[in-house]
Amino acid sequence: MKSKFNLDFVKRLTLKQKAELVTGHHSWYTYEIKNKGIPKVEVSDGPSGLRKSISNQTEGINQSVQAICFPSSALTACSFDTRMLFKLGQQLGIASRVENVDVLLGPGINIKRSPLSGRNFEFFSEDPYLSGELGSAYVNGVQNKGVGVSVKHFAANNRENQRFSNSSNIDERALREIYLLGFEKVVKEANPATIMCSYNKINGTLNSQNPRLLTQILRNEWGYQGLVMSDWGAVDNKPASLNAGLDLEMPGKGEYSAQLVMNAIQNGTLSESKLDLAVLHVLKLVEKYHLDAKTISSYDKGTQHEFAKKAAEDSIVLLKNDHQTLPIHKDEKIAIIGKLAEKPRYQGSGSSHVNSYQVTTPLEAAKNSGYKIQYAAGYSLDRDQTDNHLVQQAINLAKTNDRVIVFAGFPESYESEGFDKTSMALPNVQNDLIKKLAQVNHNITVVLQNGSAVEMPWRNDVSAILETYLAGEAVGDATWDILTDKVNPSGKLAETFPIRLEDNPTYGTFDVSHREENYYEGIFVGYRYYDLKHMKVNYPFGHGLSYTTFDYSKLQINQDGNRVTVDFDIKNTGNVRGKDVAQIYVSNEASSIPLPEKELKAFTKVELQPGETKHLSIKLNRRSFAWYDVQLPGWRVDNGNYTIKVGRSSRDIQLEQSVHIHLGIKPSQKITENTYVSEILNRSDLKPAIKEAGIKSQLDSIGADAAVLANIPLRATNMINIKPEQMKKFIELANK
Ligand code: BGC
Repeated sequence: MKSKFNLDFVKRLTLKQKAELVTGHHSWYTYEIKNKGIPKVEVSDGPSGLRKSISNQTEGINQSVQAICFPSSALTACSFDTRMLFKLGQQLGIASRVENVDVLLGPGINIKRSPLSGRNFEFFSEDPYLSGELGSAYVNGVQNKGVGVSVKHFAANNRENQRFSNSSNIDERALREIYLLGFEKVVKEANPATIMCSYNKINGTLNSQNPRLLTQILRNEWGYQGLVMSDWGAVDNKPASLNAGLDLEMPGKGEYSAQLVMNAIQNGTLSESKLDLAVLHVLKLVEKYHLDAKTISSYDKGTQHEFAKKAAEDSIVLLKNDHQTLPIHKDEKIAIIGKLAEKPRYQGSGSSHVNSYQVTTPLEAAKNSGYKIQYAAGYSLDRDQTDNHLVQQAINLAKTNDRVIVFAGFPESYESEGFDKTSMALPNVQNDLIKKLAQVNHNITVVLQNGSAVEMPWRNDVSAILETYLAGEAVGDATWDILTDKVNPSGKLAETFPIRLEDNPTYGTFDVSHREENYYEGIFVGYRYYDLKHMKVNYPFGHGLSYTTFDYSKLQINQDGNRVTVDFDIKNTGNVRGKDVAQIYVSNEASSIPLPEKELKAFTKVELQPGETKHLSIKLNRRSFAWYDVQLPGWRVDNGNYTIKVGRSSRDIQLEQSVHIHLGIKPSQKITENTYVSEILNRSDLKPAIKEAGIKSQLDSIGADAAVLANIPLRATNMINIKPEQMKKFIELANK
């Protein structure tokens, strides 16, 4: 169908109309221009549940419609399940349609760089590949229901304090390989309707005014055709934003914003062609995503609640389970301790906050299940101060029951959008309580409710740890189903849990300056850093236990043109049905650059009956072996050796094989007088040149002193009796 909205149409609009169209109408709408047949688009927050505003006020957060609160992205990421994320997107798409929301603001796919970042709960992972895969699945799911998304926050928005002005100072390789990669994947694999430009600066330039980010990289390099909107209040200089490639300012400042645009056109600081292009992007969004009222009249909230439960169950991570203490047995006497069992923390604060439909608490779920339960709060969530009476009650229960399930986590006041944390520690009252309980009962399970990684000073004193993050409104049933044997856990950590905050590479520099955040660690983020340092961690990236066991075997790797196929078998060797996530990591041994020990390049989740074996065949492509070469500039693959590792976590590699990959260029550079002897010694392709130039005997003679003599450049090889004419002849022959 021919589009009504094209550049000719745009040119027929008045300057005022154009200025309005690139300005949001209050918080959640674009401008409607009835006499031109341009309807408005309505946007709404909702990465983990729809937060459609029902406030009478035109600005602000305020009230929202009732909706299903799904688990936060910190938890859904642990599913490592793109099919689940696609279905989650579909559920959100359905809810959006019923509420006439045209564009959903999410998912947030920023990298978890520091465990202190206040918004980690809303983001998927420390790994860009995983973030990009899950983000793409989610976006495809929402858009599959005819609703657009805004993927946020573009880019390098990794801290909350001073988020409107702080500069993320990052070297180009880390920017491309870590902070932009997820966005690049989503743009190319899911074509999101819009991208939300973040508040911060990158290397001194405000993202909302950054032509390199918004036009050169996003549109020219990645081919993005959709709309770029600002995060709420991210625009500082509106004409500069439009010049850089930002299309829509959110929320608009009404007449004031429109006037700025008109003035800029009149005084020549903004070209009309730039404005027209931004207007065209707005109109294309309206054309594709504006929904006619009530295209779906209702949805079954009960079904969506069930899906929220399933999503949590597919994602909750069993971190520790000594002597198979879990699952709980029906005949045991159980003490449930911790206020969070009764008043769970199941969602984050800020723009992702949902007016939940139906919350089930772990305590209710336990009581309704027919198990023998006694409960004590143990601590209060209001302040970090020991209440001896509450502690004593909890200890008494711990003494008289077979086992203790203690619920711990960050209270709401500890983490939220809008500010960063200063510690990874749980409140002291909770840490102290767990220690005390462990002194009187040897069967302690800790259930965690938190938005990001926590320290665990009691880790060795307890038998089991279950990480439920912020599990959404079905938190109670999902947690209880896993603690008992109704559901076999299959979640895997999408971030590393270091032992101490001090172990994280950003320690001591994160959030120190009000103006600058220096990314000194470069590409060594998350497991890339802990691996490099061979550092012990509490729980590694990709870790998660099951109530069954798996065996991996028969690894075979084949290269066929641009594809590398990784084949292997997984067998369920235990007695219950279970799911495992096979994680494919690649170690690059071919390139002479700083490199992580390994990087995640593929993963797949499989379900197996007891005794069942499945054969898996996973494809890697050229990009799986690439690194970003700033000199090219571009993605580069070096021919040479790589090790392909199949793991159950980043630190539990089950199978590995070294392969020679020919997908790229020769890693060797041109030979010059400054090339080192060590660089030519082991190159079989240079042997004829070495012989013909007559320098073989001299090179052979360096023998025992190789470490020293190989470490000189060709221009100094007179020291090993190579004549200057011979050296020059060799260079000429070698470069032929
Ligand atoms: C947040 C966005 C959100 C927007 C609208 C901003 O403060 O950073 O994630 O979509 O508000 O609520």
